[in-house]
Amino acid sequence: MRLGMVGLGRMGANMTRRLMRGGHEVVVTDLSAENVKKIATEGAIASTSLDDFVAKLGKPGIAWLMVPAGGPTEQTVQALAQRMQTGAILIDGGNSYFKDDVRRAKELKTKGMHYVDVGTSGGVWGLERGYCMMIGGPKDVVQQLDPIFKTLAPGRGDIPRTPGREKMTGTAEEGYMYCGPSGAGHFVKMVHNGIEYADMQLIAEAYEVLHQALGATPQQLADIFGEWDRGPLESYLIAITAEIFSALDPVTGRPLIQLVLDKAGQKGTGRWTAQVALDLGVPVPTIAAAIDARALSAMKEERVIAARVVRSSAAAAYSGDRRELIRAVHDALYASKICAYAQGMSLIRAGSAEWKWDINLREMARIWKGGCIIRARFLDSIMRAFERQPELPNLLLDAEFLGAVQHAEPAWRKLVALAAQSGIPAPAISSSLSYFDAYRSAQLPQNLTQAQRDYFGAHGYQRTDRPGSTIRSDWRQLAAKAPATAGAKSS
Ligand code: 6PG
Repeated sequence: MRLGMVGLGRMGANMTRRLMRGGHEVVVTDLSAENVKKIATEGAIASTSLDDFVAKLGKPGIAWLMVPAGGPTEQTVQALAQRMQTGAILIDGGNSYFKDDVRRAKELKTKGMHYVDVGTSGGVWGLERGYCMMIGGPKDVVQQLDPIFKTLAPGRGDIPRTPGREKMTGTAEEGYMYCGPSGAGHFVKMVHNGIEYADMQLIAEAYEVLHQALGATPQQLADIFGEWDRGPLESYLIAITAEIFSALDPVTGRPLIQLVLDKAGQKGTGRWTAQVALDLGVPVPTIAAAIDARALSAMKEERVIAARVVRSSAAAAYSGDRRELIRAVHDALYASKICAYAQGMSLIRAGSAEWKWDINLREMARIWKGGCIIRARFLDSIMRAFERQPELPNLLLDAEFLGAVQHAEPAWRKLVALAAQSGIPAPAISSSLSYFDAYRSAQLPQNLTQAQRDYFGAHGYQRTDRPGSTIRSDWRQLAAKAPATAGAKSS
């Protein structure tokens, strides 16, 4: 097919190359004439302006946008809408906020144009491996674009190579999926990124415990993560972590990781995940912990001051068996990962119900096995869980996952206790354990929260012996009437 690519950055340029290798004709435009000229030498059709770009698309024209989310995407969509004609298709492959997609689709529809939102995962390595795509928009239009998605996605067969390994366990199928009407694609990508944040934070905490409690060196960490990548934790993020710990700085010869400043950035998709989860009332504590961890890491100057001022009684040293602790970290990481994915899949389920997208969670796990950042052997188990129960409310209710968490539980609890005792921050691993403990509790202490809300705000509460009716009580009066002994000091 002939299509246009707007934006030749890290993603846009490689996607253009992959499309040309697949036999498509790609007209390109970018703010940098140099970028256009460079890729034109590789066979792309150069354009000298947006008008020229649109003219070369042919009628009605397909334009794929790979520009930063927010303003740049907004301006590009508007500029193209003014130049293209009825029947044109605009594809936003960036990380737009899904509610922007819904608005844009409506606006373009008034001009007789179509808008497709594509969550594109795969980072800078997508050229070789293919891109995992989560697609939203009019179904008939998406079907028309199938040859383009088929070329960009990972093919069937071996999961694309991860650094240092020929292929991952299991097989990837064509890693793209129609998720539903406009917005559904970027919504799923957003949750994918929320899970990615959680996954990355859990790995960072595993690193921190091994480093602080065992004094593990970067090379030892590379060996540990490399070993983990050959077991249940096998995944792209574990594989690249092993590589990162073995990388040496060409200038000083030191492990490069030791020279990376510990201030994390975030472009917003993880944050949006937590915001939408709050709006939908879906608990995602592991994802939220990961976002806060990035925010806390960004407070570097303040933390350096606090390190001098804020003393702690935590006792750092671990004197137990080294192999046992490494195993405990592994198991805690795996159990916490299950909780993170359980939260993410529950959020996709809630969003799908809220906006009536009817997203197939098994298919979700299947396409994530392709070229996306969170691809992992573990996704096979998620696929099986939703094959057994398509309406599974939470992964923790699946026998295979519950068994895995119960197997890991003793080590998980031991590790959370060790981190707390040692003063090692492990917010994502700890909040995952609390999520597990709260989720499996038939009775939680929020009866007290209800009583407090009723005491000071007259918000009412339900009685356990009379469900369904809202009660108001005068707690002060009831307390005053209580026999004196009721409030006596506990012994
Ligand atoms: C992917 C990644 C990618 C991500 C950027 C920036 O799936 O390829 O999720 O889309 O958005 O790497 O992510 P941050 O939010 O961490 O800046």
